[in-house]
Amino acid sequence: MGGREATMVLLDENGIRCDGRKVDEPRRIMIRAGGLKNADGSAYIEFGDNKILVGVFGPRDVHPKHMSDTDTGILRVRYHMEPFSVGERKNPAPSRREIEISKVIKEALEPAVMLEKFPRTAVDVFIEVLQADGGTRCAALTAASVALADAGIPMRDMVAAIAAGKVADTVILDVNNEEDQAGQADMPIGYMPSLEKVTLMQLDGVLTPEEYKKCVEVGIEGCKLVYDLQKKALNDKYFGNGDN
Ligand code: CDP
Repeated sequence: MGGREATMVLLDENGIRCDGRKVDEPRRIMIRAGGLKNADGSAYIEFGDNKILVGVFGPRDVHPKHMSDTDTGILRVRYHMEPFSVGERKNPAPSRREIEISKVIKEALEPAVMLEKFPRTAVDVFIEVLQADGGTRCAALTAASVALADAGIPMRDMVAAIAAGKVADTVILDVNNEEDQAGQADMPIGYMPSLEKVTLMQLDGVLTPEEYKKCVEVGIEGCKLVYDLQKKALNDKYFGNGDN
């Protein structure tokens, strides 16, 4: 939260945001299931200007073996940003931020995946951020769920994710990069709509208790919209024209 609001109009007098959206309007979201021939499952997502590719491999043997668990399977997640994915070239070495986001996404996916069905094995999720514009962890989590389903990994539900937030003292849905940098709060939410369970919630910024409740409500409604698009992506691949 950069507090640079004074120099930037994040919400105009007609309630329109810096990219032309209404307060409760998500960015354009396009999800495609499949696409990577060498992966067991894959997905590609465009979430506004975010472009992210996910490949899933497994369940497969764990190397080194001592990392495996005799009682359950393990999920390993790598979130990686291409150096060219952001305006100022990112150092190709893994950053603390990428390590943290990998962990956050892994923990948000774990409640959804029936790892107990695959003792001693690992399911690997590789996330490649090709272009970033705020909200990559939500877009990546959304695509990773579709890629896991595409790989045929048994799941309790898919996790759909989107951020709620606050700009100009107003709660908004789906925070873009400018709003993240100059706005007042950013709250990424991951939610399993069929099970009605939240698996990811973070908050950067300050909210009143009322704003907090509104963000959760708006975020969960947003996740339901994202969920419909996840199901559509899988339907299109498995029951559609079959060209992916
Ligand atoms: O992407 P997300 O909102 O989940 O994570 P963040 O750490 O809050 O980053 C917000 C945005 O900052 C990213 O989506 C990128 O657009 C941008 N960013 C960047 O420009 N350079 C970086 N090295 C990292 C992030």
